[in-house]
Amino acid sequence: MKRIAILTSGGDAPGMNAAARAVVRKGINEGLEVYGINYGFLGLVNGDIHKLELGSVGDLLHRGGTFLYSARYPEFATEEGQLKGIEQLKKHGIEGLVVIGGDGSYHGAEALTNRGFPTIGVPGTIDNDICGTDFTIGFDTALNTALDALDKIRDTATSHERTFIIEVMGRDAGDIALWSGLAGGAEAILIPEEEFSMDDVVGRLNQGRARGKKHSIIVVAEGVMSGNEFAERLAEYGDYHARVSVLGHMQRGGSPTAFDRVLASRLGARAVELLLENRGGLAVGIRNNHITENNITEILKEKHTLDKDLFNLASILSI
Ligand code: F6P
Repeated sequence: MKRIAILTSGGDAPGMNAAARAVVRKGINEGLEVYGINYGFLGLVNGDIHKLELGSVGDLLHRGGTFLYSARYPEFATEEGQLKGIEQLKKHGIEGLVVIGGDGSYHGAEALTNRGFPTIGVPGTIDNDICGTDFTIGFDTALNTALDALDKIRDTATSHERTFIIEVMGRDAGDIALWSGLAGGAEAILIPEEEFSMDDVVGRLNQGRARGKKHSIIVVAEGVMSGNEFAERLAEYGDYHARVSVLGHMQRGGSPTAFDRVLASRLGARAVELLLENRGGLAVGIRNNHITENNITEILKEKHTLDKDLFNLASILSI
């Protein structure tokens, strides 16, 4: 293998730049030529492909977002899109591809491999919902952004004896809600993986009030319902002086944490090694601090599961 390429796809995540930097520098160090593809699979189909040098990834390690840009491009699920993509890769003499992204991006990587083009998936999404890895690139940073907001909101919640409903990202996965809620001492955490009862939430608020708590924080993952919707539901049970904060896309930006930079560097470098071994159709990950690789099709068949112990612990500790 002489020439590889890299793209970032789907929702951006802090640390994607660090992963791309690792692919470029590891690749060049191994004697490869490395190409960047702008705007994910959309750019691949359109041939938005350019050569990267060591210096192309300078001053990027600490930056959020992705210098390769990203796009959501569902059309890549079609045979036509995939064949066009492979044609572009071949036109540029590229023999292997690294795809950094989440679930949707992995489907694209799998399709390319099935069509004979070796592709490696690197988990990059704030949601932490990719199987085969304990952590995805960007989760730690997004979690700390959410936690920082929670801590700040707690200050004002206490001053005014209010209940705050904080809506965090996570359409299908509750990891940001669960981890930030546990780390921030939220009274209730609502996540898509677990049913909740209004009686239970209200009971917790009342119990806290009864023992003199000055504030209450409820973290709601967007996949459950919006923060405003929850506030309306809560109002049916009494006046909790509720205010809503929707954290939104601020969770996707910002300088990656040290953890995310190191994780991204390790995973990006491993992806290059796998291509050099002529192995495609794999997704890299981290398990018990070891870098691992798994068959991407198997990973896509698995369902991300919630850490139930963590959820139960959060529930016990916040009372
Ligand atoms: O997958 C990452 C994520 O930030 C989810 O948490 C969120 O539901 C979604 O992307 C938002 O997507 P978009 O930026 O396309 O609105």
